[in-house]
Amino acid sequence: MPDRLRRLRKTPALRRLFQETRIDPSMFVYPLFVSETASNPEPIPSMPGQFRWPLAEINQPLDQALHAGVGGLLLFGIPLHKDKIGSGAYDPKGIVAKSLQSLRHQAKHLVLVADVCLCEYTDHGHCGVIGGQEVDNDRTLELLTKTGVCYAQAGADIVAPSSMMDYQVGAIRRGLDESGLVDTAVMGYSAKFASGFYGPFRDAAGSAPSFGDRKSYQHDFANGRHAILEVQADIEEGADIVMVKPGLPYLDIVAQTRAITDLPVAVYNVSGEYAMIKSAAQNGWLDEKSVTLETLYAFARSGADLIITYHAIEASKWLKET
Ligand code: PBG
Repeated sequence: MPDRLRRLRKTPALRRLFQETRIDPSMFVYPLFVSETASNPEPIPSMPGQFRWPLAEINQPLDQALHAGVGGLLLFGIPLHKDKIGSGAYDPKGIVAKSLQSLRHQAKHLVLVADVCLCEYTDHGHCGVIGGQEVDNDRTLELLTKTGVCYAQAGADIVAPSSMMDYQVGAIRRGLDESGLVDTAVMGYSAKFASGFYGPFRDAAGSAPSFGDRKSYQHDFANGRHAILEVQADIEEGADIVMVKPGLPYLDIVAQTRAITDLPVAVYNVSGEYAMIKSAAQNGWLDEKSVTLETLYAFARSGADLIITYHAIEASKWLKET
């Protein structure tokens, strides 16, 4: 044990050489809302700097992402019509499928990820179809599978089921394979907690449930061991990548996930985490650049290989400056 631990942090040159964790724009995935209802980019009030993009304007965020050098985009759709069975999600002419087709041509060097869930597309806002008073897990699986296949056919490299139905990864994997889409990867939203931090996202997507909540399918935030079982289940079902979500309050789960698998681990730095930093920064209470980079380093230090963050574009610029 060295007697003086400050030796290795005495100068910027020493600190640079001994930095244990490095982050890079290539590990960032930038979430994008594409909207069938917007005719102009619509600012999202609870997510300053983020917009709902009409398909015709999708080149703006695409150019920003390419210029920043981020690793990928994660698409969410806002349909014109919502219905009981979320049919906008798996419509081959739906907003996400069309956006993927358009991006696929222009974004050869960006990984395209598509979120697979029904909540943005159902009139009740739940992540699956309702049977009785409850979300019907197994009927939902059929629709999630259709959705995953639809996005893979439209050009997604990775499909990412986020509805927290049991066996969603396995069902989609089987559906992709049966359609000959053996090279499309599946990223499980494996440990997705029933979190208040999704509030701004639900404003953006109009996807707050009209009755009840999501606690019967999303994970209980008091439970860490059971979250690791969810990760293990996704691995057994064939997930190529496992995810922990939200990020900052769940670094323990990120670290434990890292410890049990050599698969890539993703972390989702969600809308509420973004809104907290933005609002404090707008008030002059926090320095946005320093707390954002500190947050992103914490994810990497905890073991995340990729970071899904609304700060992807800005953080990439900040990293180039420093
Ligand atoms: C569900 C989904 C949600 C988010 C990503 N996928 C919302 C929810 O589960 O309520 C939230 C992401 C965020 O808050 O940034 N399709």
